[in-house]
Amino acid sequence: MWFSSSLAYTAAICTLAGRGADAAITLDLTSDASIKQAAASAAYNMMSYYTGNHTGDNPGNLPAPYYWWEAGAMFGTMVNYWYYTGDKSYIDVTSQGLLSQIGEDYDYMPENQTKTEGNDDQGFWGLAAMTAAETKFQDPPDGQPGWLALAQGVFNTQAARWDGANCNGGLRWQIFTFNNGYDYKNSISNGCFFNLAARLALYTGNSTYADWATKTFDWVNSVGLMGSDFKVHDGTRIGDNCTAKDNNMWTYNSGVYLLGAAAMYNYTNGSTLWQTRVQGLVDAGQDFFTDGVLFEPCESSKCNIDQKSFKAYYSRWTAATTQIAPFTKDTIMKRISTSATAAVKTCTGGTNGNGCGMSWTTGVNDGSLGVGEQMSALEAIQSNLVGSAAAWVSAVKGTGTSEGNADAGSDQTHDESKVTSKPITTKDRVGAGIFTALILIGVVGGSATMMISE
Ligand SMILES: *[C@@H]1O[C@H](CO)[C@@H](O)[C@H](O)[C@H]1NC(C)=O
Ligand SMILES: *[C@@H]1O[C@H](CO)[C@@H](O)[C@H](O)[C@H]1NC(C)=O
Ligand SMILES: *[C@@H]1O[C@H](CO)[C@@H](O)[C@H](O)[C@H]1NC(C)=O
Ligand SMILES: *[C@@H]1O[C@H](CO)[C@@H](O)[C@H](O)[C@H]1NC(C)=O
Ligand SMILES: *[C@@H]1O[C@H](CO)[C@@H](O)[C@H](O)[C@H]1NC(C)=O
Ligand SMILES: *[C@@H]1O[C@H](CO)[C@@H](O)[C@H](O)[C@H]1NC(C)=O
Repeated sequence: MWFSSSLAYTAAICTLAGRGADAAITLDLTSDASIKQAAASAAYNMMSYYTGNHTGDNPGNLPAPYYWWEAGAMFGTMVNYWYYTGDKSYIDVTSQGLLSQIGEDYDYMPENQTKTEGNDDQGFWGLAAMTAAETKFQDPPDGQPGWLALAQGVFNTQAARWDGANCNGGLRWQIFTFNNGYDYKNSISNGCFFNLAARLALYTGNSTYADWATKTFDWVNSVGLMGSDFKVHDGTRIGDNCTAKDNNMWTYNSGVYLLGAAAMYNYTNGSTLWQTRVQGLVDAGQDFFTDGVLFEPCESSKCNIDQKSFKAYYSRWTAATTQIAPFTKDTIMKRISTSATAAVKTCTGGTNGNGCGMSWTTGVNDGSLGVGEQMSALEAIQSNLVGSAAAWVSAVKGTGTSEGNADAGSDQTHDESKVTSKPITTKDRVGAGIFTALILIGVVGGSATMMISE
């Protein structure tokens, strides 16, 4: 166990008057059983928002106001939930959710979503499949592609979209020209691709993935989306040759590059180059903590529905970093334990009295409840189990057995003419339009995040 007794902490939460004695969450970080119990509570609350397994509903989708990508992110959290806690209660619903959105070509471009799907949206589903391969989550039933093949399907479709013609490279945010945001190159789209490529390299040992990871990391640095200080900015536009930046910083952008760099560090057997990058990203991440507690920069004003979930990914990716780049363990685990302790103090909301809030720095529930809030608390809590979790498996080590397909998704049947053979509805454009407004504001102060997919 990495933590000293000084960090041992029991959060005995005062329940709100009128709430049952079982309300709120208790977390004793010296006890794996306590961490698992707290995680079970947060997971239960999160999954209570999921209706995709109800009769007549579509598996793999969250109801409005949540966008399609967040369901992919959520199932990634649920793969991790099983991996860290061993609780099998949700594995079937998770597997069903992950498999129902793979699309006709096994690359997470299902027909219902493609018209409004961005590279980042697809990336989150691909990363969930990658996690399933790395943690040896139960294999899909016979006749379905393996988790590794699904991750490779996402990788191959995105590698083919590399846009060398503008700004010397990078992925665009959007996939199709008719979507607003097609002229934006953002850190999360490129970050998901980088992270996935690096982890595919580590899992398969195939140097082609490592080359793509390096190329993407270098490009992101060349246009200044990541500075020499390792701070990651939101995005930049092709219109001005990627000079002006939306300088907003989000926890998930920092985290997605950190874990990718950690995978490259491990893949290169501990190279100094990647060690320096990992350390730089860990150090820059300090900006997201106040008194040791993780916060999302939008918390000082108002976070949108997407942003409310970003701390989940930061927690998830920093925790995974400690396994494959163990030199980061002390710094990262201290942050995670302090943040989880603060997060559970906010889990006093909602009808059952243990819904978690958005901001963890206040010590009380701020009234903001939802999938993102639950996912963030859950990842922060369960990340404390990373020290006792089995190492990620891989084909290189001989432990990873997920079925792969190096050519998955490479037919590129999602070309624009196919998608536009059906009319692009006002609904499609409106979805994209809202975020364009954000992009325009973004360059001076707001930010573009995910794509509306409904
Ligand atoms: C759907 O999944 C949730 C979360 O796992 C579970 O509580 C619920 O019972 C499931 N509903 C059905 C109809 O299977
Ligand atoms: C696609 O959307 C339609 C209309 O909402 C629905 O009937 C269908 O089941 C969906 N398909 C999938 C695979 O989600
Ligand atoms: C665009 O920027 C790149 C550097 O990122 C530079 O090499 C290229 O010459 C620029 N192109 C134009 C047209 O300014
Ligand atoms: C890492 O070390 C292993 C075992 O010595 C070796 O096979 C592999 O080629 C090395 N990887 C790199 C990227 O140097
Ligand atoms: C690579 O990751 C493994 C865990 O999968 C770890 O044991 C090993 O120490 C890591 N390598 C380096 C160079 O840190
Ligand atoms: C390595 O990955 C590349 C890119 O997907 C693929 O074309 C190639 O066939 C792979 N090589 C092996 C040996 O699997």
